Amino acid sequence: MKVEIARIPSSSIAPHEASMIDIPNNVDGLTAIIVRSSKKLSAWINSCPHDGRQLCNDPKYLWNKELNRVQCMHHQAVFEPDTGLCDNGPCRGETLTSLPVEEKNGEILIFMNYL
Ligand code: FES
Repeated sequence: MKVEIARIPSSSIAPHEASMIDIPNNVDGLTAIIVRSSKKLSAWINSCPHDGRQLCNDPKYLWNKELNRVQCMHHQAVFEPDTGLCDNGPCRGETLTSLPVEEKNGEILIFMNYL
């Protein structure tokens, strides 16, 4: 079952920026990352495939401007923003866990799939 977990203004994320939201009602305290590349909008669980830690606690450090990649602050794994694939770092070849995301009527809607 797909459940909406957040709704934020489209204007809150410019191209080549990332944002972070809380995921409501989860005992693990998970957050989600929303990323806008030059091509598309994506959302990911904020958990690094390397060891499960949050990539970052502050969204202003998520986007590596030089590499045009999302970056984990712990061991500098970098992730392609449209696919979530780690293309450099200790979890190379692994991917972030995606969340369904839609953009319509000036809003970004983030969803979670529950069984
Ligand atoms: S926890 Fe992210 S690179 Fe190690």
